[in-house]
Amino acid sequence: MSQAKTILVTSALPYANGPIHIGHLLEYIQTDIFVRYQKLRGQTCYYFCADDAHGTPIMISARNANISCEELIKKYSEEHQRDFRTFSVAFDNYTSTHSPENQELVYHIYDELKKKNNIDSRVIEQFYCERDTMFLPDRFIRGQCPRCQAEDQYGDVCESCGATYHASEIKNPACSICGQKPVIKRSNHFFFRLNDYKKELISWIEEGHVQVEVKNKLQEWLQGELRDWDISRDGPYFGFPIPDEDNKYFYVWLDAPIGYMASTIDYCRKNNLDFDKLWKGDTDIYHFIGKDIMYFHCLFWPAMLMGSGYTLPKEVCIHGFLTVDGVKMSKSRGTFIKAEVFAKHIEPEFLRYYYASKLTRSIDDIDLSLEDFVFKINADIIGNFVNIFSRATKLISKLNNTLADVIDSNDPILREFQNANESIADMYASRNFSGAIRKIMKLFSDLNKYFNDASPWIVIKEDPERARQILSTTLAAGAWGSVFLKPVIPGIIKKIEDMLDIGILTWKDIEDDSSLLKKLSHHTIKDYVRLADRIELKQIDGMIEESKE
Ligand code: MSP
Ligand code: ZN
Repeated sequence: MSQAKTILVTSALPYANGPIHIGHLLEYIQTDIFVRYQKLRGQTCYYFCADDAHGTPIMISARNANISCEELIKKYSEEHQRDFRTFSVAFDNYTSTHSPENQELVYHIYDELKKKNNIDSRVIEQFYCERDTMFLPDRFIRGQCPRCQAEDQYGDVCESCGATYHASEIKNPACSICGQKPVIKRSNHFFFRLNDYKKELISWIEEGHVQVEVKNKLQEWLQGELRDWDISRDGPYFGFPIPDEDNKYFYVWLDAPIGYMASTIDYCRKNNLDFDKLWKGDTDIYHFIGKDIMYFHCLFWPAMLMGSGYTLPKEVCIHGFLTVDGVKMSKSRGTFIKAEVFAKHIEPEFLRYYYASKLTRSIDDIDLSLEDFVFKINADIIGNFVNIFSRATKLISKLNNTLADVIDSNDPILREFQNANESIADMYASRNFSGAIRKIMKLFSDLNKYFNDASPWIVIKEDPERARQILSTTLAAGAWGSVFLKPVIPGIIKKIEDMLDIGILTWKDIEDDSSLLKKLSHHTIKDYVRLADRIELKQIDGMIEESKE
C-alpha cells in the first residue's frame, strides 16, 4: 500500500574538500535506491542534498591550493555532482551550505534558540598558533599521546591506543599546519544547552525513529547530563559570521544539517512549493547517514529542530562503514577507490547492485570483497538476469519480434512473479535491500529453469506459435522482474524498456495484475541490445593499480 504523505529524503552532505569515493557511495546509493523505490510506487518524494562547504579543513585546503574558499568549493561541488550522476544518484536538488538560503535559516534558527534561552556564552581556553594567527581545532594539533606516549597523534584522539583526551593533555603539542608550538589563549564562545532538550530527546528516541542498536547507544548517552555544545569558532574561519559579534563564526556542524533545509528552500523557490509545508507540516523526513555522525543527527539536530519548531525526522537511517576485502579502505593497498576511477574501469551500476545485495537495516560494516564482487555480478546480473533477455529476444527475432496475442497471467511462472510484489515492496520500504535482491534472483533463476525446461529453441522448429507463447511468457516475467530491479540498476532497466518498446515501467504496471501483460500482448519489440558485459578480474586489477599511492 502506498502512503499519501510527502516523503523528504536526505543523504549526509559531503565535505567540499575531497573527492567522492566508494565509501561515500555506499550511502548515496543506499539513499538513492530508497528514493527511486518510493518514486516508482508513485509516492511524492524529494531527495535533497548539498556540499558541506564550511570549516577549518576547507579553509586550509584552499590556502594550500592557493585559491579562495569559494573557488575550492565550486570545484568540488561540480566534481561531486558529476560523480553522483555517473552512479545514477539522482537528487531533486543539490546546493551548498555556503548559500544565502542557508545563512538566512541559520540566523533564524539561532534566533529561535536564543529566544528559548538555550544559548549560553563563556570564556574558554584553547590552543592558538601565533604563526598562523588562528585557534587550532583538535584535528590541527599533533603531539604525544598522554596515555601510550605514541608520537604524532591528534589533539583529541590517539590512533595508536584509541585513547580520547582533551587537547590540553597532549604532550609536546605542535600546530599541524606549520609545526610551531601553540600557545594557550582565551576567547568567548557560544554554547547550545543540549541538556535543555534531554527529556524531549529521550521520548523522541523511545518512539523508535532509529534502528534498535542505535537506540541502545543513544540511551546510554542520554543517561548522564548532556554537555553544552560549542557552536562558535573564532576567525579566521570559513563560515557564517555570528550576528552582532566581532570575528566569531558559527561552527560548521551547526550550519551543515540546516543545509538540508536550505536545499529544500532553494528547490521550493524554483518550483513554487511551500517550504513550511515540507518542514513544518506532515512530511515524513528520512536522513541517511553513516554511524560516525550519529551524535550530530540523533541528538544535536533533533534538539535544534525541537527548539525552532520544525518537523522532526521520521527516521534517521544509519549504515555502517565500507571495508574492502575485510579492512578499511587504504591508499597504499589501492582500495581507497575514487568514484571517478571506479567508473573508468567498471560499470557503475554494478556497484549499486553489489551494495544493494549487502544492505540491510543493520549498522554493521559492509564488506566489498573484490573477488565476490566479480563472481556475484557475473552470476547474478549477467548469468541470471541479462542472459534471459538475450536468449529470449534473439529467438523472438525469428518470429517477427512479435509477442503472443494473449499472455496467460495464470501461467505458474508469471504467478510466481505476481505473488512476489508485496514482499519485495516491503523489503524495499524497510531498507532490506539484501532480502529484495535475494528474492528477485530466486525469481530469475526460476525463470531460467522455466526457459530451459520449455526449450523454445527446439519447439520453434516444429511449433513456432507454441514457441512464441513460451518466449512471451519469459519476456513478460522478465519485464515484471525489471520493475523490481529498477531502483537498483535504473540504467540497465532503461535499456530493457527501450528494447521492449514499452515506455517507462512503474510499479503501477505490475500492481493491477494485467496492465503490463496487456501492454505486451501482441506487441512488437525491438532487437536485442547489449545490456551489460561480464567483468573480468583484470578490470579490478587495473582499478586497484590506478588507486595506489
Ligand atoms: N560533512 C559531514 C556530514 C554533514 S551532514 C549535515 C560528513 N561528510 S563526509 O564527506 O565525511 O561523509 C559523508 C557521508 O559519507 C557520511 O554519512 C559518512 O558516514 C559517509 N561515509 C564516509 N566514508 C564512508 C565509508 N568509508 N563507508 C561508509 N560511509 C562513509 O561527514
Ligand atoms: Zn601554525
